[in-house]
Amino acid sequence: MCGIVGYIGPRQALPLVLEGLRRLEYRGYDSAGVAVLDDDGALHVSKKAGVLANLEHEIDGGTVALAGRTGIGHTRWATHGGPTDRNAHPHTDTAGRTAVIHNGIIENFPVLRRELEDAGIEMSSDTDTEVVAHLLGRAYASGTTAGDLPASMAAVARRLQGAFTLVATHADEPGLLVAARRNSPLVIGIGDGEMFLASDVAAFISHTKQAVELGQDQLVVVHADGYEVTSFSGGEPDFRPFTVDWDLAAAEKGGYPTFMDKEIAEQPTALADTLRGHFDGTAVILDEQRLGDDELRTIDKVFVVACGSAYHSGLVAKYAIEHWTRLPVEVELASEFRYRDPVLDRDTLVVAVSQSGETADTLEAVRHARRQGAKVLAVCNTNGSQIPRESDAVLYTHAGPEIGVASTKAFLAQVAANYLVGLALAQARGTKYSDEVAREFEALCAMSAAVEETLTLMEPVRELGRELANSRAVLFLGRHVGYPVALEGALKLKELAYMHAEGFAAGELKHGPIALIEQGLPVVVVTPSPKSQPVLHSKLLSNIREVQARGARTIVIAEEGDDTVAPFADTLIELPRVPSLLQPLVATVPLQVLAAEIARAKGFDIDKPRNLAKSVTVE
Ligand code: F6R
Repeated sequence: MCGIVGYIGPRQALPLVLEGLRRLEYRGYDSAGVAVLDDDGALHVSKKAGVLANLEHEIDGGTVALAGRTGIGHTRWATHGGPTDRNAHPHTDTAGRTAVIHNGIIENFPVLRRELEDAGIEMSSDTDTEVVAHLLGRAYASGTTAGDLPASMAAVARRLQGAFTLVATHADEPGLLVAARRNSPLVIGIGDGEMFLASDVAAFISHTKQAVELGQDQLVVVHADGYEVTSFSGGEPDFRPFTVDWDLAAAEKGGYPTFMDKEIAEQPTALADTLRGHFDGTAVILDEQRLGDDELRTIDKVFVVACGSAYHSGLVAKYAIEHWTRLPVEVELASEFRYRDPVLDRDTLVVAVSQSGETADTLEAVRHARRQGAKVLAVCNTNGSQIPRESDAVLYTHAGPEIGVASTKAFLAQVAANYLVGLALAQARGTKYSDEVAREFEALCAMSAAVEETLTLMEPVRELGRELANSRAVLFLGRHVGYPVALEGALKLKELAYMHAEGFAAGELKHGPIALIEQGLPVVVVTPSPKSQPVLHSKLLSNIREVQARGARTIVIAEEGDDTVAPFADTLIELPRVPSLLQPLVATVPLQVLAAEIARAKGFDIDKPRNLAKSVTVE
């Protein structure tokens, strides 16, 4: 949530900062702003409500002169204060000498704000961030930290509670940018005689692949030719240089109309890349394994904790993990998990699934689990982000950067990675021999081709999407692994097309939801294989008949060659035949395409749905 960019070096900062913001706009698009320090030590700020294009338009209009070689920029997802010009970042102190951008929430801001107001400072916004600008300006102006921007930032950061990445520039310090982070992301980009700061490497990937990730409570000072990291809370400096392993093309649309279209198409590769190298012929291999086999053997319960689509990936994998390991698996929303005193101990494995590795609820769930002595394994798509840093073991999903706000390829990669976790546990516990694990792994690898084939079958789904654009609501039904697929399909439709959509376990229909069925209501049904799940299949067939008899328009997703279902399907969408437990990997694809197409037909921004942001770094 919120994208942050900083640049210092020999080039004009503005175009580089704007380029970075364009790549980070998926993190928030309520408003945007920049501050540039010119060569004469004057600070210029421009900010505008709405998407980044509004700010660019304003700057192009020439209302503000923004030349200078030090700059910061921000794209906002509003928390405190509505998305207006005055609440947009950067925020400045009263003297207009220091400018600050912020990602996160400063929980004790009301107290700090009162303190500043009592001292006669007049606030010009409703944000929590503005207090930091004033506190920083005052710390720099007088007292023990006077004239020392890093020391001033450290002193201010120590007073803040909550989550923050802060980047500041000061008119008297043209040669440096200073930043502090706690619970929100910040990476340094090391260029040739120039430096970047950003929420995500995507902001500077076209200029450098050399980056540095930062630990908790770190303070960073960057100059054009270097950086220093210290801890503002008295700990050790904590940072790790790394090389970004994807390139600019991955962060661009590459000829697709939207990032989401591109990311849907990239799913076969995302699956293959996630699985590659994770089985060496005899054993499943995790990326960062700080848990020994002995520890995995003693696990007697598994929790999967996550939010949104990542949570659905856990619901899907539960079936396979329980089947393969005979361990009880609970899948829980991270936002609920830590507030209900779950039963955890040293023999509990908590699998924390997160694309971004930043989601505040999931991060707090990880911390809670570790405090209770549980082992934590992170499934994550972002190298070096906070959730893997704080976990005992890590399995990275190699889906590449996901920029469309609605998760697609990351979801499929999460499902595959969760299955790998199941296989690793099954092997450690001896519920599967390595030749069985090898067979399951092979079947999983074959899913990349199955998803590729599924993608070639999507034209009728697009057509259907255009037809359904004026529907008021859509229901999704499934059984077994098809049930979480139904939940994921409904979530995609809600977030992209702003349409009422609900996913139900088909067996629950008669316990209430069937009352929703009315003439013409589209009902999407994810049908299991008649061959490998004949009992479930016949139950679902009855459910399809029941809704059709009450006037629903049935849209049936079924295995190719399933003739029994055709008479009850107003629209039939066929999928390649795959093993039952792996069906979600193909069955999710048409639901993603359907949601995108309905949203497109309604004229909505598919990559940036309203009110949403990609990484939810606040609870
Ligand atoms: C939905 C979606 C969200 C995320 C959720 C968790 O399309 O993208 O529901 O899945 O916010 O995000 P991560 O995986 O980054 O923890």
